[in-house]
Amino acid sequence: MNIPREFIDLVLNKVDLVDLINSQIPLRKKSGSNYFARCPFHNEKSASFSVSQPKQFFYCFGCGAHGNAIDFMMQHDRMNFPEAIEALARQVGMEVPHSSAPSTKNDNLAGLYELTVQAADYYYEQMRLSQRAITYLKNRGISGQIAQQFNIGYALPGWNHLLDLLGKNESEKKRLLEAGLIIEKENGGYYDRFRDRIMFPIQDYRGRMIGFGGRILDQGEPKYLNSPETPLFQKGRELYGLYQVLKTQRVVERIMIVEGYMDVIALFQHGITYAVATLGTATTAPHLQRLLRYTADLIFCFDGDQAGKTAAWRAVEVIFPLMQDNLQIRFLFLPDGEDPDSLIRKEGKEAFEKRLLSASSLSAFFFQQMSLQCDMNTMEGRARFASHSLNYIKQLMPGLFRDMILEDLSKRARIDIQTLKQQVKNQQLTKALEMVEIAEEPAKVKLAAPLRLAMSLLLQYPPLASTINEPLPHSNMLGFSFFKQLLEVIEKHPHITTGALREHWRDQKEEAFIAKLASFEHMLPEAGLHNEFKGAIRQLQALVLDEEINRLLTRANQLPLSEEEKIELAAWIAKKKAIL
Ligand code: UTP
Ligand code: MN
Repeated sequence: MNIPREFIDLVLNKVDLVDLINSQIPLRKKSGSNYFARCPFHNEKSASFSVSQPKQFFYCFGCGAHGNAIDFMMQHDRMNFPEAIEALARQVGMEVPHSSAPSTKNDNLAGLYELTVQAADYYYEQMRLSQRAITYLKNRGISGQIAQQFNIGYALPGWNHLLDLLGKNESEKKRLLEAGLIIEKENGGYYDRFRDRIMFPIQDYRGRMIGFGGRILDQGEPKYLNSPETPLFQKGRELYGLYQVLKTQRVVERIMIVEGYMDVIALFQHGITYAVATLGTATTAPHLQRLLRYTADLIFCFDGDQAGKTAAWRAVEVIFPLMQDNLQIRFLFLPDGEDPDSLIRKEGKEAFEKRLLSASSLSAFFFQQMSLQCDMNTMEGRARFASHSLNYIKQLMPGLFRDMILEDLSKRARIDIQTLKQQVKNQQLTKALEMVEIAEEPAKVKLAAPLRLAMSLLLQYPPLASTINEPLPHSNMLGFSFFKQLLEVIEKHPHITTGALREHWRDQKEEAFIAKLASFEHMLPEAGLHNEFKGAIRQLQALVLDEEINRLLTRANQLPLSEEEKIELAAWIAKKKAIL
């Protein structure tokens, strides 16, 4: 679906974010134009969630949740994008026009999502028509209702059912290929990727269809075939079942992380509606960061065998740098030969949940693993144990948990606590923070300081744009073209708010950027903003000139400059003098 940009701008202009949020979460007015509340996106005791009326933007200082009214509907009410617009439009008495005009590059992504939905619908239909699939699901105890809830489908045997249905011409085929649904033959032509498999559609946290896992019905390899990495699907980030968990529970008290599709489904069917699965990968930092937005209580559930222990240890390694005092992390190891699917069918919800009481805490499991190869009865063994442990403890952020684990270590290894504290003192903090940032944004970029300031001021106070009265020079500086785009949008919409401005970059790589800049606390008094902005622009111009000057000076080191270049250099230098 393609909603005209002007319409979205108009809706955002009419909706008031403060009213919208206040109707669901009581907001308290606190400082200036900001309202505060306890964050609806993570569990907390203090109020870190702030909503700005003039900016029409919310931001949580605790978990980083942020955005405009559309984001709020999507995240809080778990709507997808068109649903959010529709709901907001309804609130202000407007109706979404449904245009079919072709447009931007985002449409390509939208097209791929749409295609994946079509495929999922098709597989679902086929499942209902296939006795073979129905029998399989029945034998595995899957109810019709749960099959529907998870859109479980069936891909027929044969090489080109989906291909024929959804790939009628070359461009459609190309899209199927891009969505990972068909495979290209070496000598040209295509064939269906999924054949004679039970299909588990994978949805992202908002419910968008992004890929599939397909299970073989009989014996065979691979047991599960997953979609390849596509523009929609990166398996190291996605969690199967998360959408269903979020949909069933508004405030998610805890989340259990299991290994398989069938585990999530069986748990759900038996009333444990808080399980998600990684998709054939180990738990990653992006996985955990996403989950920690919804809950502070995570339970990792693994098989009791060595593979399970190894997987659990990997999870420990990922969680350590992300650990915070308010988190509860537990490890549940199942009896030999069982997985959550088999176990919940045998013993039911109550008995299964009882097991949670005996789950290992993060620290208990950590020390248990650390002591495996150390003889705790000898001094050498304890020194080894302590030194291994410290390597990990160093990654913890300073706080109660770190202090307590050090104290525990001190007792176990019989080493003075002060000695241990000294050991972890300096190095770790920066390291941990770096890891968090890298994990969060794969393409982390560093902006030049004046550009960063100018951009964040502009995002937060768009009318400042009108104070720039000469055209900005051209530059390849990182972020510069985005800055110019910002100015262009504001020029077209002089009264735009931060929240509405943000909307122009939905699903684009600048999104993360905007969030950071829009919430950047520059601590400037309102009255001084104007001058501060002017100053930043001046410095920015000087910086651009420096680039040119340096470029020519570097050249001059290798070859004498031509007459023209000399004149150019002189001009740049004169210009720079004039600015400063
Ligand atoms: P398991 O082999 O433990 O299977 O794989 P399972 O979940 O118990 O499956 P059922 O009960 O036999 O149907 C656990 C998870 O590892 C991934 C899948 O995500 C699976 O759910 N996996 C497994 C693959 O991606 N490919 C495979 O070939 C096997
Ligand atoms: Mn299983």
